[in-house]
Amino acid sequence: MDLIVRLEPRLRLDSPMMEDDVVGIRRPLLFSFCFLFSWPLNSCVGFALKDCRISKDNAICSASKLRAVPGDIPASVKTFDLAANKISQIRAGDFINYTALLQLDLKRNSISQIEKGSFTSLRSLRKLNLNNNRLAQLGDVFGGLSNLTELRLMSNDITTVAPSSFQPLTNLTVLDLSFNKLKDLTKVHYALQHLPNLQYLFIRKIGLTIFQSWELTNSTVGLAYLDMSQNYIDVFSISADVFQNLTWLNIGGSQRKQKLSWKIDEPAGLSRVTTLDISGLRLAQKDARGLFQSLNFSLSTLRMNAMKSNLRELLNMSCTIPTLTQLQIRCNTLRQVDSRLLRLCSSVTKLDLADNCIQNMFNDSFRALQGLKSLTLSQNRLSLVPPAVRNLTRLLELDLSSNNISSLGCQDFADLGNLRVLGLDQNSISTVNQCVFKDLTKLEVLKLQINQITELNSAFKIYLPNLRQLKLDKNKLTAIRQGDFEGLRSIQNLSMQRNQLCKLENGSFVGLTMLTDILLQSNEIQETDITAGVFNDLINLRKLSLLDNRIKYKSSSALPSAPFSRLSRLETLAMAGQHSRGRFQLPRNFLQGLTNLLIFDARNVQLTSLHQDTFKYTPRLQKLDISSNELTDVSPRLFDPIQDLRSLYISRTSLLSLDFLNEANLTKLEFLQARRNQYSVITKEQMGALPALVYLDLQGNSFLCDCDNTWFLQWLNKTETQVFDAYNFVCNYPQHLKGLKLLDLDVGSCSVDVEFIYFISTTCAILLFQLAAFTYHFLRWQLAYAYHLFLALLYKRKFRNRQPECLYDAFVSYNTHDEDWVFRELLPKLEEEQGWKLCLHHRDFEPGKPIIDNITQAIYASRKTICVISRRYLESEWCSREIQVASFRLFDEHKDVLILVFLEDIPVWELSPYYRMRKLLKKWTFLSWPRAAQCTDLFWEKLRQALKTRDNVGGELLLLTVKDST
Ligand SMILES: *[C@@H]1O[C@H](CO)[C@@H](O)[C@H](O)[C@H]1NC(C)=O
Ligand SMILES: *[C@@H]1O[C@H](CO)[C@@H](O)[C@H](O)[C@H]1NC(C)=O
Ligand SMILES: *[C@@H]1O[C@H](CO)[C@@H](O)[C@H](O)[C@H]1NC(C)=O
Ligand SMILES: *[C@@H]1O[C@H](CO)[C@@H](O)[C@H](O)[C@H]1NC(C)=O
Repeated sequence: MDLIVRLEPRLRLDSPMMEDDVVGIRRPLLFSFCFLFSWPLNSCVGFALKDCRISKDNAICSASKLRAVPGDIPASVKTFDLAANKISQIRAGDFINYTALLQLDLKRNSISQIEKGSFTSLRSLRKLNLNNNRLAQLGDVFGGLSNLTELRLMSNDITTVAPSSFQPLTNLTVLDLSFNKLKDLTKVHYALQHLPNLQYLFIRKIGLTIFQSWELTNSTVGLAYLDMSQNYIDVFSISADVFQNLTWLNIGGSQRKQKLSWKIDEPAGLSRVTTLDISGLRLAQKDARGLFQSLNFSLSTLRMNAMKSNLRELLNMSCTIPTLTQLQIRCNTLRQVDSRLLRLCSSVTKLDLADNCIQNMFNDSFRALQGLKSLTLSQNRLSLVPPAVRNLTRLLELDLSSNNISSLGCQDFADLGNLRVLGLDQNSISTVNQCVFKDLTKLEVLKLQINQITELNSAFKIYLPNLRQLKLDKNKLTAIRQGDFEGLRSIQNLSMQRNQLCKLENGSFVGLTMLTDILLQSNEIQETDITAGVFNDLINLRKLSLLDNRIKYKSSSALPSAPFSRLSRLETLAMAGQHSRGRFQLPRNFLQGLTNLLIFDARNVQLTSLHQDTFKYTPRLQKLDISSNELTDVSPRLFDPIQDLRSLYISRTSLLSLDFLNEANLTKLEFLQARRNQYSVITKEQMGALPALVYLDLQGNSFLCDCDNTWFLQWLNKTETQVFDAYNFVCNYPQHLKGLKLLDLDVGSCSVDVEFIYFISTTCAILLFQLAAFTYHFLRWQLAYAYHLFLALLYKRKFRNRQPECLYDAFVSYNTHDEDWVFRELLPKLEEEQGWKLCLHHRDFEPGKPIIDNITQAIYASRKTICVISRRYLESEWCSREIQVASFRLFDEHKDVLILVFLEDIPVWELSPYYRMRKLLKKWTFLSWPRAAQCTDLFWEKLRQALKTRDNVGGELLLLTVKDST
């Protein structure tokens, strides 16, 4: 057993805290005793992580101001997020245990150094992100990463890469070296050769000015995707067939005035490229022709955004490529689009003209584009739906978002019967007339969010039979009238967040039997709108959001008809954050009918209580959020009907403790969030009631730092449950420990092992036994003396005051067998001849009184006690009592009151221990009758003298025969 006596404990529970008048402080048993025996807390604190949390197999330590890789993360994690910290160095041992790790994110740190061998244990690692650090030279630091497929080194200061740096990365497919200072591909040339599986190479903005294909020889054979945008490339030269698999090439994005010099000597050159981005590039006409020629018959997607010049020329060249189908010409300040601009682009099916300041379009602008399927005109300055789109009868997607369109006409979409997706969001549309969407019979998605729509005007009453998704968020709708959406027979998602809806007429959603999600967040909907059965038609609804409205019930009594009684398929009901004032009581049948409800969010609704039948109707509930309410009491019975509950959120309530858990049957609860409550003590019973708990969040509670939390602290050390932020739990009570960390509390002095108690008590028992044996053997008489001294004290207390003066000269103690001698010899001589007044027990004792009291009284009432000693006397119990009492008096008053008259010669060794005590006192008077046989006169004279002496102090002996023991 190792006991460590700690002289300087970390934070001692001293007595001052015990004096604090905090409710519930109890000084634990054995506290002071065990103060000496305390042992340090285990330094490895179980599952309370210092700076991180674990979610499933993901360790999340981002933005925690970490300066080093934390060492307390379980080795089994699959992802490890250390992004946005202050780590400056990776050490060899930092990731030693994480053989199962798949993803490691170290982006946005200050890493300038990686020790060799830091990653050798990460055999399973797939993705390593070192973006936004301060690496300058890449050495041989990637050893062991044979399974790595993705390495991101963007935004460092890398200038050189050691030739063998990437050698271990035999499975790497993605490499991002963008935003570094490489300047020259020859610097990475040798390193890249070791990447036989590389498919995606990002070298954006690395200061490249010359690209020569030989620089990538042997390293790019498998390359499919090359992003070298934002470099200031002057010379682009392909002299060898290095891009045998390249399909995606971005060499755009540079803002250079200088023209690119383009040399393609290798006929195979870029012949497999399907997607090319030459945004912002200046190309001589000859070079442009050369480029497009080399892509003839392969190019399908061309991006020419923000071209500084000759866009028309480039369009005329590129649009002769018969395979070109997707054209993106954003940010070219076109203003007007006429029919000549795109006249050769007849093969284009997807055209993106976003962000071009287009105000006007000629009606025949898209005449050549008869096969167009997707047209984006977003972020322009259109004030109407341009008539040019009317002819695009094959159009499937039309994006007109972020323009200045304020009204829609009945003919705007007249011929777009094939349209599937229509984006009209972020305009200034205020009204939608009934006829606007009349021809869009195949439309599936309609985006009308962020407009000024105040009225639905029956726009959805009849038409849009195939619409699946309608977004009306952030408009100015105030009411939904009966049948407003009746035409939307196929609608699944309806979103009307952030309007001003304050009236939902009965039948608002009639016909919407396919609807699964309806979002009504941030409106002005009141309880009166929802109670009348407005949702009754939504029989397929899975998700209903009523967050941030004005629903408020005053009483928990049952409603005449429950608002969701037909929504038996509803899985999520969110109604957090009701913003009307006043207390909220949930009617006890509010959730009636929601037999499949899984998630109920009633956060921050000013709920003050919950009727215990509230969840009677939702037996499948798994997630319940009642945080930020003024709940003061929760009945454990509330949880009886929801045995499947997995997650419970009760942060910021007024519940004073978690005691309601003790009786609640939450055997499946895995997640409990109870931040910012007033919990001061977490008990064994509370946690014991949650056997399946995986994650516990008690951040911001006001913990009591004393022995009451001993169990909790010990549990934190060994639990399998992850306790979020446990290292930052702070003491709130008692006053003198306020602000200190709960986990720094030393509770060693609070608790004692049962084993330890056994050990101590056994040891004590053995020691006591040995001490007793020792004492008995060597000091028994001294002990007996001490014992009598003690009893004498008691007797003195009891009798001293009662017997102030003596009634008798002597009390005669004798055995009945010696009665004869007493009456024949002693009594006549002493009473009749010498005139003493004697007390004889058979003559003078008060009848009915306990015999011991009589004896005691007699002895204290007599000046002397004469013990007539014979063998029988010594055997008799009562006689020895008399000696005892007389002895007490002897000890007590320090007077020689005892006169021993021996009727027989008794050898010393036969005498009782009282005789031996004489050795200590030497005050006793002995007279021997047998030895006085010849000379009885002297005997009586001696007795007379002995009776006469009053105080006989100092061992004055009246010896006739004094037997001294030897
Ligand atoms: C590396 O990846 C392969 C293929 O996915 C996998 O079978 C193997 O188990 C991985 N190696 C390690 C050490 O995880
Ligand atoms: C490319 O590889 C071939 C053989 O695989 C080799 O002969 C040649 O020297 C390599 N080229 C470069 C530039 O390393
Ligand atoms: C691509 O080939 C077609 C057909 O041979 C030709 O008409 C067109 O001009 C070529 N385009 C370019 C850019 O070379
Ligand atoms: C608690 O749940 C268990 C299993 O889910 C069940 O057997 C037990 O009867 C329940 N106890 C109470 C008090 O409801």
